Amino acid sequence: MCGIIGYCGNKPAAPVVLEGLKCLEYRGYDSVGVAILCDAQLLIRKDAGKIEEVSEKHGLDSLPGNIAIGHTRWATHGSVTQANAHPHSDCSGRIAVVHNGIIENYQELRQELISQGHRFSSETDSEVIPHLLEDELKSGCSLEEAVLAIAPKLEGSYAFLVLSRDDSGKIVGTRKNNPLVIGADGHAYYVSSDALAFSQYTNQVITLRDTEVVILTSDKIEFLDAAGNRLTKQSEELDSSWAGNHKDGYPFFMLKEIMEQPQVLSKTAYQDERKFTDIALDILRARQVIITACGTSRYASLVGRYLFSKVGKKFCDVVMASEFGYFADSVDKNTLVIAVSQSGETADVIEGVKAARDAGAEIVSIVNRPNSILADLSHQVIPLNCGPEIGVAATKTFLSQLAVFYLLSFSMVNSFDKACIQLSDMSSKITEALNCNNDGLIKLSQELKDKNNFYYIARGINFAIASEGALKLKEISYIHAEGMPAGELKHGTLALIEQDTPVVVICPADYAYSETLSNAIEAKSRGAYIIAVSDKESDIYDFWIKIPEVDELLYPMVAVVPLQLLAYYMAVSRGYDPDKPRNLAKSVTVK
Ligand code: AGP
Repeated sequence: MCGIIGYCGNKPAAPVVLEGLKCLEYRGYDSVGVAILCDAQLLIRKDAGKIEEVSEKHGLDSLPGNIAIGHTRWATHGSVTQANAHPHSDCSGRIAVVHNGIIENYQELRQELISQGHRFSSETDSEVIPHLLEDELKSGCSLEEAVLAIAPKLEGSYAFLVLSRDDSGKIVGTRKNNPLVIGADGHAYYVSSDALAFSQYTNQVITLRDTEVVILTSDKIEFLDAAGNRLTKQSEELDSSWAGNHKDGYPFFMLKEIMEQPQVLSKTAYQDERKFTDIALDILRARQVIITACGTSRYASLVGRYLFSKVGKKFCDVVMASEFGYFADSVDKNTLVIAVSQSGETADVIEGVKAARDAGAEIVSIVNRPNSILADLSHQVIPLNCGPEIGVAATKTFLSQLAVFYLLSFSMVNSFDKACIQLSDMSSKITEALNCNNDGLIKLSQELKDKNNFYYIARGINFAIASEGALKLKEISYIHAEGMPAGELKHGTLALIEQDTPVVVICPADYAYSETLSNAIEAKSRGAYIIAVSDKESDIYDFWIKIPEVDELLYPMVAVVPLQLLAYYMAVSRGYDPDKPRNLAKSVTVK
């Protein structure tokens, strides 16, 4: 869960790499480093801290040279220290490597290298890479030959870039199970974990596939396969919505992304009807359908499950991706797996999908990030078309995932067009749900910011919205929150309700209204402070988050947006940065 970037061209490399790293900060933000080649010298500067801090402290911006690599880290192996920050080097300091991923067999490799006399300076798994390269390069081979030679020794996942003082003028990169994309603008070449890092310079992107190697110099790029044969690769045009990484006047990306949601729906609904009809038929025909996802994407999948059942009369199961492997025995060629992931990079999802593919299952993915690993592994890909989501807390992509499930379920009954019309009407409803609650939610967050526990309850199709509301609150404001089906409250959690404990009740005027309200009354009788998300008034509410009346299958969309706002204002009231919550990163590429 790190971001890497390389630049080779005629401009000063450091500012390009630093700007790129800022776009990659969503992948990790605990340490930063760059390596730069200048007059046959390899300069490495790195430290723990955010990009701005490290850059200022070490004068990164003014480092000379036209070839550089950079890294923004989310610690996995080794704590957050200067020594563990990337780039890592070999014993002689002639090689610099930035790595995203996990080298699972690093302990064996490290022991072997130490026994041969190598000296390690960090606790990371990544540092084995420069030491392995150092050994290969002693035989006089080129940097790319050394990369090809060591790659088969590395188990796990990686995308890494290498600079060498002795084979200067080039950057060499390769990948396995982690992304690496290349861009060219006529004067320079860029390579990164995400095209967002160089989208301001070019919209032409080449995706590197597993085990392929890229060699960048200032005037050309070359590609090799794992056997060292030259490859020809075509560039693709980057979707214009994917260029741009600005807050547009908002204080945080999360708020910008919440407020973008009315427009997002129409972008998501812009889909290929034929593709949806085909996938819907496959879903109906499949002996079993399993949806797999993590976190927020899983909560969207739980709403999808209700929609499939209510509209398409098709039962399916949602399996948490980290648990998917334990059900692999029942996956076969009659299984259709729907993998849902904003990033298309989540390691748990990728692993499950690979296992399901090997067992013969058909894979349909719902992804936001174009050219992602998940998209590559899928037989059919449904894009969310949301553009980049930078805030670690997923917001607009959740709404977009709900819209895709809505379209899919209506495609099962030949009503794709009807669903598109319904979705286009939802933009104004979402605007209403945001605007009429904004000021009230600011006040509520001030009032509740010192609470330690929140409970979220709902029934039926909105149950997952309770879980999603709770997830948003805990991940950015660090308050304990639990979401659950309202009927479950009395089976244990009710014991935790005390005087003034906030209980958020999602109770739109749908088929579950009366029962949900009864559960809220049970909590209120034990002292709970009831925050209701509803279009219907009741005097049991202590605070009313008013949502517009919509079709009962669309309530999740209008109910979730004020809950995102509540979480956002709670985080800000408590003094936290909602875009960069502690310990988390946007793309979870480790298991
Ligand atoms: C959402 O707010 C979280 N940051 C997290 O739960 C996220 O949804 C999860 O890691 C899955 O990510 P994905 O959609 O990219 O696979």
